[in-house]
Amino acid sequence: MTPTSAAPSSATPPAASFDPWSAAFVADPYPAYEELRAAGRAHFFEPTGQWLIPHYDDVSALLRDRRLGRTYLHRFSHDEFGRQGPPAGHEPFTTLNGNGLLDLEAPAHSRVRRLVAKAFTPRTVEALAPTVERLATELVAAFHADGGGDLLARVAEPLPVAVIAEMLGIPAADRPLLRPWSAAITGMFELNPSAAAAAAAVRASEEFSGYLREVITARRADPGEDLISALVAVQDHGDVLSEQEMVSTIVLLLNAGHEATVNTTTVGWLTLFHHPDQLALLQREPGRLRDAVEELLRYDTPLQMFERWVLDDIEVGGTRVPRGSEVALLFGSANRDPARFDSPGRFDITRPADGNRHLTFGAGIHYCLGAPLARLELAASFGAFLRLAPGPKLLAEPDWRPGYVIRGVEELRVGW
Ligand code: HEM
Repeated sequence: MTPTSAAPSSATPPAASFDPWSAAFVADPYPAYEELRAAGRAHFFEPTGQWLIPHYDDVSALLRDRRLGRTYLHRFSHDEFGRQGPPAGHEPFTTLNGNGLLDLEAPAHSRVRRLVAKAFTPRTVEALAPTVERLATELVAAFHADGGGDLLARVAEPLPVAVIAEMLGIPAADRPLLRPWSAAITGMFELNPSAAAAAAAVRASEEFSGYLREVITARRADPGEDLISALVAVQDHGDVLSEQEMVSTIVLLLNAGHEATVNTTTVGWLTLFHHPDQLALLQREPGRLRDAVEELLRYDTPLQMFERWVLDDIEVGGTRVPRGSEVALLFGSANRDPARFDSPGRFDITRPADGNRHLTFGAGIHYCLGAPLARLELAASFGAFLRLAPGPKLLAEPDWRPGYVIRGVEELRVGW
């Protein structure tokens, strides 16, 4: 999309330290967020043409505000909205992405979410709990027996990938295909992706969609107990998911299931290593695991920013943000807002989960459908370390991957 060109005259300039392309910022964006929050509630950021929204109450309210949308195409054409559509060369990425739950708005979103939620129920997730526990136990035990290594490659990544593949019923032999496709597609969600990243996302979209259409055809002919079979069978007053809606939803589930949970695990461990008193407390009192997982999700937010289009003029803190603008909701900043959390820069696993209302899983109609599954996986994997492999040590400070939106480390070297 083409960014809006000129900074509106009433805009507050953002803090100079807000530089999502700098390695120092990616490693620790929190001081820049603090400056942003102190400087105002809405900041026009010239390099991306977006309005940065750093305060908790604003992020929370805008996520629920129907004057904003993840797309504008349910109300306006690209021309009417003053934006250029995606280049024709971005097909089939555009179709794949545009038909997934996350990029639909009402009424299409309500319809697809209702159908998908009928197949992906809390019961589906509960039924997976023993599988998640078993996989976490096996991965952590093997990692410990080998004396450690890269926690990302050995535990953080294989667990959610295996769980979502198992849930969907993707045959074991095909699973190695999934992560590269997923990584190539999610590369497009970074700020200003390069031409090479776009080409890789387009290729992956084509291959992944083709693969899934074959799996869907096979499940139609011979249904199993898996989620793809459930998506094929789901009906609501005669309404069903189209094949494209199914393909887009499955890709979304796989991508969501891979990226954020992987990063929450590794960045979560890094946080624990940097706060040995809290790690020791958790090791002594593993009953605090649930609260600790919520605090890890809040303290270093895995998905730092989500965007919305402004469909009707809004005002944020007295600044008018006109229709046609794009806002960048800074989840990482909202989760460190002192107006919402006591001493937000303190990592404290004794914050009760019930009062720890972070925005990490979003809010409003797009609230994360997979939150119960993500919580189950995180509790299983951190819990398995506490039980089977206590006392892990960080062997080297990790490098951060360049992406800021989906933020994570390259690897995490751990030993005993
Ligand atoms: C720690 C892990 C995770 C985090 C932090 C996370 C975060 C989020 C957030 C913030 C949104 C809303 C985005 C927006 O409003 O623009 C979202 C949506 C979604 N997530 Fe997650 N997620 C995680 C794991 C998962 C998992 C494991 C799954 C499924 C397997 C999943 C499936 C989804 C789906 C389907 C949506 C779209 C919902 C809709 O648009 O109605 N997520 N997630």
